[in-house]
Amino acid sequence: MIEPVIGLIGGSGLYDIAGLEDKQWRQVATPWGEPSDELLFGRLDGVRCVFLPRHGRGHRIPPSRLNYRANIDALKRSGVTDVVSLSAVGSLKEGLPPGHFVIIDQFIDRTFAREKSFFETGLVAHVSMADPLCPRIGDVLEAEARRQGLPVTRGGTYLVMEGPQFSTRAESELYRSWGCSVIGMTNMPEAKLAREAELCYASVAMVTDYDCWHDGHDSVTVDAVVQVMMSNADKARDLVRGVIPTLGRPRGPCPAGCDRALDHALITPPEA
Ligand code: ADE
Repeated sequence: MIEPVIGLIGGSGLYDIAGLEDKQWRQVATPWGEPSDELLFGRLDGVRCVFLPRHGRGHRIPPSRLNYRANIDALKRSGVTDVVSLSAVGSLKEGLPPGHFVIIDQFIDRTFAREKSFFETGLVAHVSMADPLCPRIGDVLEAEARRQGLPVTRGGTYLVMEGPQFSTRAESELYRSWGCSVIGMTNMPEAKLAREAELCYASVAMVTDYDCWHDGHDSVTVDAVVQVMMSNADKARDLVRGVIPTLGRPRGPCPAGCDRALDHALITPPEA
């Protein structure tokens, strides 16, 4: 049986986890350089948890400058088995208003200025990304979000853009024509690297704004967005607290196989 260790990656507005016991911020060294910050180790309801503020405490690092490889490697080295990634996004659909949560099931990766693989020299590996998110963790998140009465949609495509500037109106319309649900700047290459690290990874996208395709976009103020972000962060804390007891139960291998992603992915023989 696996004793799960839950990794939590907090996005804008989420810089710690309330209720964590035996808390300790610890530096974790990796061969890929430094993660965004120290990692916060602790227990929630007896379950081991490791929290990483994606942009660092105080939001110091922009999406293109994040060391995604160090972040994922640091979680893996800390014993994490299951990752819940939380991030702020813009909405590409009328039916996903600010304050809505989307449990993502697909990505389109439009980033171009980031290190995206652990397998660049030495071993060559091609992991499957056909289903990039762990449906087992998604089920737990969905059930708890519904139990808490959160406005939530299960499934949706997250368009990951490079940024840091927001999209042009033409880009925003293009992504809508592709059927995308939300747009953000951080879940790739995070999800690709989690798969290469054989971590189960799920993503909760929290809508802060309608992207610029929307008529109401021009009237959006920073104050309004920050207010939505803060209220989203409170809801996210409750959601995380709610899923930990279930995610932390001893279990067998993941039915979706995320934790065995390299089994059929390595091209270079390990002894070569
Ligand atoms: N993060 C929050 N809102 C966003 C938007 N509209 N586009 C890209 N990233 C975002």
